[in-house]
Amino acid sequence: MKKDKTVLLAGATGYLGGHMAKELETRQIPTKIVVRNTEKAAQLISETATIVKAKLTQPETLKGLFEGVDTVISTVGITRQKDGLTYWDVDYQANVNLLNEAMRAGVRKFIYVSVLNGNLHRNLKICEAKEAFVDDLVASGLDYTIIRPNGFFSDMKDFLDMAKKGRVYLFGSGEQKFNPIHGRDLAIACVDAIASPKTEINIGGPDILTHNEVAELALLACGKPINVIHFPHWLRKSIIWALRTFTSSKTYGPIEFFLTLMAEDAIAPRYGSNRLGTFFQIEVDVLKKKI
Ligand SMILES: NC(=O)c1ccc[n+]([C@@H]2O[C@H](COP(=O)([O-])OP(=O)(O)OC[C@H]3O[C@@H](n4cnc5c(N)ncnc54)[C@H](OP(=O)(O)O)[C@@H]3O)[C@@H](O)[C@H]2O)c1
Repeated sequence: MKKDKTVLLAGATGYLGGHMAKELETRQIPTKIVVRNTEKAAQLISETATIVKAKLTQPETLKGLFEGVDTVISTVGITRQKDGLTYWDVDYQANVNLLNEAMRAGVRKFIYVSVLNGNLHRNLKICEAKEAFVDDLVASGLDYTIIRPNGFFSDMKDFLDMAKKGRVYLFGSGEQKFNPIHGRDLAIACVDAIASPKTEINIGGPDILTHNEVAELALLACGKPINVIHFPHWLRKSIIWALRTFTSSKTYGPIEFFLTLMAEDAIAPRYGSNRLGTFFQIEVDVLKKKI
């Protein structure tokens, strides 16, 4: 990779984007990091990275930022943000705003992080918006790579939160399998994609685990005895129905996504070296030091 190939990174204040910023720095790739909150991004400034303030939902603020940029990488999406915006505002429109500006400036490539099997789950609010953006990106004429990752280790903290209280709750038998991935491993694959001809990359972590096994790893890290409670699937389906009926998509979107995926295997090509058990142990140790 030539050193003069500037990357514009959007989403660096988040979990995956933060790992991506570090990986770009390690490889000495010049990077423009676009954020809405510069204070949150202060630790991302480096010899090779500059911070630019812009509002992705207001396209006029992006004008001129893409000059000299070779590749745009976006991990922008709503996960736990509570800004009153919808997936259509952010996962779709904010990324479209980035894409339009990239096209205007003659950027070569756009790398976008969607979700594993997102194209098969367009009925879910979060996937509907992400995959609509994927459609626009594919039609844009730019080189592109769609990254489709399995669950992130950061999201596995939900298991840890339950384990801390001595009990993990699951739906069904808990025997569904998946291979979650650490942000550090995924960031390596995303940065590799800058020079890759692949248009789609499905990717997961090195270990294929059942939900029961993840629960056990979390309880083990917390030093608690194995105690996993299984709720029936009809309850999971009833919760999805009730949330869809009585709450807005902002409320039910993430829960709908999580509860739907809990009921199926999700196995992606295995990648990386970071193990979930070690991640849980580090999280627990950090917490102990804080107390
Ligand atoms: N978590 C998972 O298990 C998983 C699995 C597969 C795919 N994904 C997808 O991968 C992507 C990155 O996930 P993550 O866990 O790294 O998410 P994250 O930590 O929440 O980071 C999301 C990034 O998007 C930015 N963003 C959100 N709303 C915005 C808005 N209105 N305007 C400007 N920026 C906004 C955030 O900026 P602020 O810091 O300013 O809020 C942050 O930089 C997401 O699209 C997610 O859906 C996640």
